[in-house]
Amino acid sequence: MKTLHGPFTQILPLTGMPLKGALTDDQLQVIPDGGIMVENGLILIVGDFETLRKENPSAQINLIEGDGVLLPGFVDCHTHICFAGSRAKDYAMRIQGKTYLEIAKAGGGIWDSVTQTRAADEALLTELLLKRIERHLAEGVTTIEVKSGYGLSVEQELKQLRAIKVASTQTKASILTTCLAAHMAPKDFNGSQNDYLEHILTGLLPVIKKENLASRVDIFIEESAFNAENATIYLTKAKQMGFDITVHADQFTTGGSKVAVNLGAVSADHLEASGDAEIKLLANSNTVAVTLPGASLGLGMPYAPARKLLDAGACLAIASDWNPGSAPMGDLLMQAAVMSAAEKLSTAEVFAGLTFRAAKALNLTDRGILAAGMRADLQIYPANDYREILYQQGKLKPKN
Ligand code: NIG
Ligand code: FE
Repeated sequence: MKTLHGPFTQILPLTGMPLKGALTDDQLQVIPDGGIMVENGLILIVGDFETLRKENPSAQINLIEGDGVLLPGFVDCHTHICFAGSRAKDYAMRIQGKTYLEIAKAGGGIWDSVTQTRAADEALLTELLLKRIERHLAEGVTTIEVKSGYGLSVEQELKQLRAIKVASTQTKASILTTCLAAHMAPKDFNGSQNDYLEHILTGLLPVIKKENLASRVDIFIEESAFNAENATIYLTKAKQMGFDITVHADQFTTGGSKVAVNLGAVSADHLEASGDAEIKLLANSNTVAVTLPGASLGLGMPYAPARKLLDAGACLAIASDWNPGSAPMGDLLMQAAVMSAAEKLSTAEVFAGLTFRAAKALNLTDRGILAAGMRADLQIYPANDYREILYQQGKLKPKN
């Protein structure tokens, strides 16, 4: 059954814009009094509402009352929302000026979330994850990437990945799963960093493939986690097994983005520490540069050089990094809006970074713009001008 939705005060299809580089707002196509025809979850046509109504007299009409700005659903291409417990203690210490090392010594950091997540059973993890997914969905995020990485053993990573798989069948959101067993070397593993990665490669990734639990593999390259050399061996093998690869790169020190680009990773995420050399490398590659303003806000640190990345020609996506440690807030639109004020990103650049450019980071070509044949992932803001959305810095919520 064809359904015509409308009229919308404005439709922003986000079509016709390049995948890489800077964008200005005059590149945003704005359709006034627009309509969108949908059938079986796919878009048939986008255009003038009255024209579409006359041309399709048999279509069912979903009449939109009042002001409405229609956008593609947001794609959050980087989250860690499958976890149990809280790290409020870490945050309180951090805002008192304690360092990363002092917090870890006091029992905080990633390992604390590993302990709390290991203590939860699969059903509880699924329940907690679904609540976070539903909150994201209510805020217009229709595609969500979810990482494991708080299990850090074969059995505990599988528990997380299975919880994500169950949750994905119980929500309207579209879920993409990433194995982040290489989040840090677990404190209770008997062996070197390399031994642990080898253990994951032989004992975990084949099971993930067999049970179809994740399509992507991620690693944290950092002094406190894995070095570039070990990460290169690990990612190369993961890629040979058919996984898309992605990297937590250049968060505090550089090195990760080079590995990501050299290996053809779909994305390099964080980039707060990236300098001119890393920016150039990313801009000349097909690896999406993913900026995570939520981690900058949570840690009280500078943003990634988003403006410079765009000006150099990179494909820039914006994601929430929602996790219990560095990015507990999880409000993607608020974070993107606040970062855009500091980094001087145009509305077109922010919307692209939250939609089709983020879809590219997940290797998805069927969403992120409103065009014939694409998924009908829609969100409607109660506004008469699209500029209200960033202006209200996340306080204007979609009404669907
Ligand atoms: O993306 N940087 C590494 N991992 C997460 C933090 C996870 C945590 O602190 O629990 C991040 O910021
Ligand atoms: Fe992260």
